[in-house]
Amino acid sequence: MSVTVRVPAKVNLQLGVGPLRDDGYHDLVNVFHAVSLFDEVTVAEGPLAVTVEGASIEGVPAGPDNLAARAARLLAEHLGVPPEASIHIRKEIPVAGGMAGGSADAAAALLACAELWNPKLPRQTLMDLGAELGSDVPFALLGGTAVGVGRGEVLTPLPTKGEFAWVFALADGGLSTPAVYAECDRLRAAFEQEAVWPHESPALLAALAGGDAKALGAALSNDLQPAALSLMPALHRTITAGRDFGALGALVSGSGPTCAFLAADAEHAADLAAALGGAGVARAVVRAGGPVPGATVL
Ligand code: C5P
Repeated sequence: MSVTVRVPAKVNLQLGVGPLRDDGYHDLVNVFHAVSLFDEVTVAEGPLAVTVEGASIEGVPAGPDNLAARAARLLAEHLGVPPEASIHIRKEIPVAGGMAGGSADAAAALLACAELWNPKLPRQTLMDLGAELGSDVPFALLGGTAVGVGRGEVLTPLPTKGEFAWVFALADGGLSTPAVYAECDRLRAAFEQEAVWPHESPALLAALAGGDAKALGAALSNDLQPAALSLMPALHRTITAGRDFGALGALVSGSGPTCAFLAADAEHAADLAAALGGAGVARAVVRAGGPVPGATVL
């Protein structure tokens, strides 16, 4: 018997980064938005193993170091069963791209293994176990649009209206999330900028609730963007090109280096994607819509 779970990527609509905590994390106000770029994770009963398939999977650990294998081990421990999970990942979410692909795979592995080992397990238990694996894992289970506080793992769903049309510019190479947070701290210290306690943006919440793409574009923000641009200066050109081609909003997704551009509608997104693709400012350009549901058993 095997179970396949489809799980979405995320983009951060607001990433407010507070001061560095004693535990090495930062308090966040993190507005997550699930978009229609999906990984598919299939788990069959068998010895614990991870295989990965996809166009651009360099750097994804196969085997026991993959976060999906850690997810299977954690759930097996919790349930007191042997970690019999042969995991296969079909990757579409960009690797090390700031779209939570690794976290998505862990979330999908948790859900698929639960389906095999104890289908009645409440989602909340999976979300709690997910938070132990990584700050972005619970949101990959929840999906939609939600605000995360704490490390980003304490989630409240947000009301939205309609669908938003996105274009994503994928970069050559990835950025390490801890390195981007560390660069954020370094830049703040160098420029004597005190980290302020982040708050949800009322303009962003209103734009989401009203389905107002123009207002949403204007309200997007990411406190990690200066750090990502500092580590990968070529992203300046990508962001500027998107703005020049008429994106309603342009920002680095999470810790980057993927850049996200909001379009007015699907037609505008197609034009924007073609223009960005032709400008030579990205390794690849993809379109997606959001919000979409979280990890789902197929
Ligand atoms: O939780 P996760 O393992 O995904 O976090 C990866 C890294 O990102 C952490 O080790 C930390 O350096 C950084 N991080 C942070 N504050 C957060 C979330 C992540 O500093 N709220």
